[in-house]
Amino acid sequence: MSQGQRRLAAIMFTDIVGYTSLSQHNEALALRLLHEHRKVVRSLISRYQGNEIKTIGDAFLVDFKSALDAINCAYEIQGALHEYNSNRDAEETIKVRIGIHVGDVVHTENDVYGDAVNLASRIEAIAEPGGIAISEQVHDNIRNKVEFPLEYIGPQDLKNVDAPMGIYRVCFPWDKGISREQAVLEIVQMMQTSPKEVPYPTPMFDRESERAFLVSALDEVVGTGKFKLIFIRGEAGIGKTRLLDWITHEAQERYGVYVGRGYCLEDVSVPYFPFSEALNGLLHRGSNDQGTKRALNWLDRALRRTFAEEGEEFECYKLYENMAKLLETISRENPVLIRLEDVQWSDSASLGLLHYLARNIQNSRVLMICTYRIEELGELAPGRPHNLTETMRLMTREGLFQTIELRGLESEALTDLTGSLIPGAPKRVLQLVARESEGNPFYAIESTRFLIETGVIEKVEGAWAARMPSGQIEIPNAILDVISRRLSRLAPEDRQLLDCASVIGEHFNPKILSTALGIDELSCVQRLARLYRETWLVVEDRMGYRFDHAKVREAVYRGLTGSLAKELHRRVASAMSNVKDSSLAVEIAYHYHQSGDAAKAIEFGMVAGNQAKLMSVFIEAVSSYTLVLEAAGVDGERIELRAKAYAGRAEALHEQGLHQKAMEDCKNALSLSKEPSTRLNALRVLAGSYLGIGHFSEALEIVRQADAEPGEETLERLYLKDIEEAIIARRSGYSTTTEAVREISRAFLKLGRRKDYAYAILTVAEHEMMTKLPPDFFQVVKEASDIFEESGDLAGQQFVHAMIAEYYFTKGDVALSAENYSEAVNLNKKLGLYDGILWATWYWAMLYENAGLYNDAIRVALDGLGSATIAEAPYPESGIYATLARCYLRINSCDEANKALRRMNELYEAHSKDASAGLQGMVERARAFNLAFEGRKEDADRAYANSIDLLKRFGMWIHEAEAHREYGELLLEQKRLKEARSQFEASLILFASVENVPGAERVRNSLSRASSSGQP
Ligand SMILES: Nc1ncnc2c1ncn2[C@@H]1O[C@H](COP(=O)(O)OP(=O)(O)OP(=O)(O)O)[C@@H](O)[C@H]1O
Ligand SMILES: [Mg+2]
Repeated sequence: MSQGQRRLAAIMFTDIVGYTSLSQHNEALALRLLHEHRKVVRSLISRYQGNEIKTIGDAFLVDFKSALDAINCAYEIQGALHEYNSNRDAEETIKVRIGIHVGDVVHTENDVYGDAVNLASRIEAIAEPGGIAISEQVHDNIRNKVEFPLEYIGPQDLKNVDAPMGIYRVCFPWDKGISREQAVLEIVQMMQTSPKEVPYPTPMFDRESERAFLVSALDEVVGTGKFKLIFIRGEAGIGKTRLLDWITHEAQERYGVYVGRGYCLEDVSVPYFPFSEALNGLLHRGSNDQGTKRALNWLDRALRRTFAEEGEEFECYKLYENMAKLLETISRENPVLIRLEDVQWSDSASLGLLHYLARNIQNSRVLMICTYRIEELGELAPGRPHNLTETMRLMTREGLFQTIELRGLESEALTDLTGSLIPGAPKRVLQLVARESEGNPFYAIESTRFLIETGVIEKVEGAWAARMPSGQIEIPNAILDVISRRLSRLAPEDRQLLDCASVIGEHFNPKILSTALGIDELSCVQRLARLYRETWLVVEDRMGYRFDHAKVREAVYRGLTGSLAKELHRRVASAMSNVKDSSLAVEIAYHYHQSGDAAKAIEFGMVAGNQAKLMSVFIEAVSSYTLVLEAAGVDGERIELRAKAYAGRAEALHEQGLHQKAMEDCKNALSLSKEPSTRLNALRVLAGSYLGIGHFSEALEIVRQADAEPGEETLERLYLKDIEEAIIARRSGYSTTTEAVREISRAFLKLGRRKDYAYAILTVAEHEMMTKLPPDFFQVVKEASDIFEESGDLAGQQFVHAMIAEYYFTKGDVALSAENYSEAVNLNKKLGLYDGILWATWYWAMLYENAGLYNDAIRVALDGLGSATIAEAPYPESGIYATLARCYLRINSCDEANKALRRMNELYEAHSKDASAGLQGMVERARAFNLAFEGRKEDADRAYANSIDLLKRFGMWIHEAEAHREYGELLLEQKRLKEARSQFEASLILFASVENVPGAERVRNSLSRASSSGQP
């Protein structure tokens, strides 16, 4: 041995599982398998220039020049054997364990000796059958150089070895749960088959209870088939992503779940971005049936926002529905994990979709986990909560999610964590780092890297040591400072690369990066790969490259001087506009804006705003128009552009129901613009907003003003006409405007606005119904419903249900009417259309009240009022209180009735300015009933007369009929028979005219009672 040569080698040890016992009971088979196995192994060893030192029975001892050769060879051996085994019976299969280690060995003529050899065989012994185990040293050598994932399995006790050794295992694509049947849904591609996972430089510490919580949530989702949404919250760097990665891995291991990964952009808010990313990872459009293919194609385009340019109408509920259906379908085959990161930066559209999914896919095996930083949830403006806060508030009321709050790691876990980076380092250094980082693992890791890079601690003869007493070691006390100090040590060209990347964002595409910098893409990627290996400042992931952490990007970006940042933004914007993808408009506008190029920022900002508006993504539309307005400044030259942006923003605000703000913008647009199209647009939105807040007179004035303005914008004029008719109808009765609305509907159709047309024809039917049931009612309903169906417009469908319900209401069919109101309320709830819930609730409650089902009416009303705090619809809300008050009086709950009346009066007084005759009539009827109840006969008489008069003016015959009947009953009780009879007669005529048979029947009964009590 003393004559041997000592050198560093990679040693591989292989062994057939269960060979000894096989050879004892079936020697022939054992020999045959041994032979096969040797053939496979030998051919691969030679391919990787391995040196077969010896075979020991069924075992091989091989040495390689590099650890990389060794592991690649081992990987291929297992791959070849896996294939060999795949079409053989169990007893014919060959399972081998492989262990690899690197270290000094001594070569003699035909053998090798040394600790490394022993260790390799010990490591081999703990490998799984068919698996590969490697030591930490091997891992250090090959990290980031292999195509397959490696998993740290922790420190392991090896036979006859003193201290435990850190061991990794190789993960194979055919590992448990991975090679599942994929026949039914070929479209789904599993994450395991996509590029390698980024291995962590540190093992996972602590978080036992959080992990247990997540695992039981996972088990529950898979076991019960019920959807779950979990938020992981905590400060930056506390370990949210890490925990999420852990459960992702666990979920793949245990259940082979499909994983969709989305993240949110920090500086710009692109509608649906995180979902688009997640979908991207979840699916690849392969060979599936035509229907699914179409749905996928649609979803994909919808999420990537490529509709606007094609003139196709975008319908966000269709997107919601399709997304829900898709997740349901996929999860029927396999459990799904959707992870959305950093939702504190989410766009509002995605939050809407998230809320919708949480409500509507309760019966799917989908686990959705979102992470967010708590420190970034401040108010967006005074009194305006963060979008995420708002969404979570709404979801809390519905009990739609659970939360994990991550706090700092215990100091022991932190010293273990840093200890794993610098094994054997002096305890006092580890403790110092732990103390300084206050439980934040990211800070601890960065500080440790900082200490290494600045040479404060170094490896001396294989052991880590500090070069100074710990009292003198200084760690910058803010995380950004630690990172900045690390950055300052980079070579200039590396720093340049990161500078530009930080302008692009946390995730960046090397293509855009290299174009922006004007460098060759290959050398760009090579430099990134090196930075990844050496510094961990950036890491490679599925989608390209990203900063290791958002804080790293922040530190780089903060380090840019103003002029450098401007120039880089300009270059990035121009590189992005070369891509010719219209969905990048928001980002391009942002970069041009940052670069100070106002003209370009305006150009792209307008595109982005119009696009978002077309997609009904109004919050984002508002921010794009705001950017345009900022970029345009108060420059005298851009007056028309600014006016357009004001008008665009006004419309987006109006759609959100922010009428006051919309009105301000309209007025700005009008004061600036001389262009008829912009002016008309602004006037129309202004009139609509006045209508929205119930100021009918002002709205009419604006309509008149618009009439007097020039401009041929047919559609705008049509909308204006529609507003005008809506006001006239509410003021002077629906029947007065029926013909006009019919005209409008035809005009919409001529313009190809099918959805507007559908709404209009239903409105016509509604108007007609007020007086007489239209004979073609169901034909109209079908036509509208088909249009809504075709465009997936659920809001339209709820309108259809409400109309059908109203039809049966008028006819007196309580069961069918209630069924449709219930359907309408449910759809509204599903869509979060809170004012719609109130409207349907009001009528539904009145239906029950008329039928004498007071308790049902109260139940329905109270349920609907649950939404009133969110809705801003005082009109139907006061109507509900009117109904509620009457029902409470009927069942003698006087206190409750008084409360309801008080609330009704409050709402009515505050918003009565221009309220419709219909609402006035209903409120007055509630007051009249209460007066009668209190025995104030004369006041009651006056109030009833007033109420009936108002209802007659409004043209709601059915309600007028009910009022007559109610009043008649009270007169009957007061023994005022003649008056009672005349009320019943008036009622009877009305019921008969709308073919309300049960109503007419009831009145006839009352009438005969009145007649019989008239004869003593
Ligand atoms: N329990 C843990 N054990 C070991 N390392 C951890 C642990 N938690 C976090 N880390 C490491 O700390 C660093 C920061 O964690 P991570 O990226 O998960 O933070 P984060 O909460 O997602 O931050 P951000 O809000 O900025 O996204 C990572 O390198 C991660 O691997
Ligand atoms: Mg994170």
